[in-house]
Amino acid sequence: MSKKVPLLEEVLKYKKENNLILSMPGNKSGIGFLRDDIGKEFALNMGFLDITEVDPLDNLHAPEGIIKEAQELLAETYGVKKAYFVVNGSTAGNLASIFDAFNEGDEVLVERNCHKSVYNGLILRKLKVKYIEPVIHEDKGLFLPPTEKKIYKALDRCNNARGIILTYPNYFGIGYDIFDTLKDLKERGLTIIIDGAHGAHYGISERLPKSIVSYADYIVLSAHKTLPSLTQGSYLLVNNDKNVDFYLKAFMTTSPSYLIMSSLDYSRYYLDNYGEKDYDKLIGLANKWSIKINTLNKVSILKEEDLPQGYNLDLSRYILTLPKGYSGHKLLDYLRKMKIQCEMSFACGVVLILSPFNLEKDFEKIYNSIEKLDLSLIVDNQYQNYYSIIPEKVLEPYEVFDKDFEYVDIKKSIGKISKEALIPYPPGIPLICGGEVISKEAVEIMLGYIRNNKTVIGIEEELVKVIK
Ligand SMILES: Cc1ncc(COP(=O)(O)O)c(C=O)c1O
Repeated sequence: MSKKVPLLEEVLKYKKENNLILSMPGNKSGIGFLRDDIGKEFALNMGFLDITEVDPLDNLHAPEGIIKEAQELLAETYGVKKAYFVVNGSTAGNLASIFDAFNEGDEVLVERNCHKSVYNGLILRKLKVKYIEPVIHEDKGLFLPPTEKKIYKALDRCNNARGIILTYPNYFGIGYDIFDTLKDLKERGLTIIIDGAHGAHYGISERLPKSIVSYADYIVLSAHKTLPSLTQGSYLLVNNDKNVDFYLKAFMTTSPSYLIMSSLDYSRYYLDNYGEKDYDKLIGLANKWSIKINTLNKVSILKEEDLPQGYNLDLSRYILTLPKGYSGHKLLDYLRKMKIQCEMSFACGVVLILSPFNLEKDFEKIYNSIEKLDLSLIVDNQYQNYYSIIPEKVLEPYEVFDKDFEYVDIKKSIGKISKEALIPYPPGIPLICGGEVISKEAVEIMLGYIRNNKTVIGIEEELVKVIK
């Protein structure tokens, strides 16, 4: 019998470290609920509010009372026809949208760099996929959302596209102005799903990028990433559906957490009552400090002007980029030692998710940490070989799923069909997806990563799974 409670002990220890949380969740480990009295009451009683569907607390799977009312208020806030609380994260929202929007065998356009839940949806719903080429920002080592040119190029390759699945914004808070394109695609009869996991706060302030919700049929927002919601709390917003209620129920637990649902209700209330003012203030602070941090000449905080025309940037994030030859991963480790928790690192930098709950002293902490940063300690002769290729697809992702496979040495895999996605990291975009032919060019890129001790997800000890 063990007296150890390893997970809980570590969580409690982490809490005692008192890190500055610039990662998810958007509630910043509870601080976000301290905005007003009702939020404070929620935060302080959280351990005692884990209740189930007792009268009069309504039922998420058949809402008639307060959950129905809360969801209607949510629809009003975002200006959509219907809105749902999702307690299994945007993962469940993406799956429900994909299942409702498309039938087995439908052809869909998909951004190459979409989230795993979208890839899973493509397999489970047995869809035919036409990928939209990724765009790479070589100078900053970032990937960008596809332009309209890339979208139409992919559409031209389709036989009978039924819809499109896009991410807006991406992990870096970068979006592309695709509003007119979406209108056009809609007129052509395509169903539009937007994975807006990182953009639940968009549109609330003029200083943030425009919200995309009115342009899509289904929009999924991870409230828990940027708003004061508990982890796993997401919104599914719908302007046009068939029977999304069914799929949502199918992908969600029948024991939804009232803590998560209450926090989703609080996030909507927060946006209504404080969102505009708080985000204006945050972006004012962020801009002021970003100028100061940039003058230290150690990191450069990404600006919209650094991006090609047509792209927008979420100024409630800091993308700290480093000059060539320095490692973003080492910068993340350094900031962690300085008790700053980053959201993620990439080859040339780190992503920090700011929030209206950050105070001047938090920015000062970032500034001071960067000032103390000894760049010579984060040197890395990193290997970067960004790519923007779409290989030949011979089988759909769902078709390879049940096929027998064998392991072959990566060097002997040219011309074979990959069983799984092969994803060099960074940038984390699949170089090869399941069902695609492994080309000589792809093998050379992957060998380059391996030689430089960089990860390629899907390759273990230089072996790849290929279809027999
Ligand atoms: C773009 C994108 N979509 C969907 C998801 C899944 O969201 P969740 O964690 O809320 O299930 C993520 C999670 O990181 C994401 O980054």
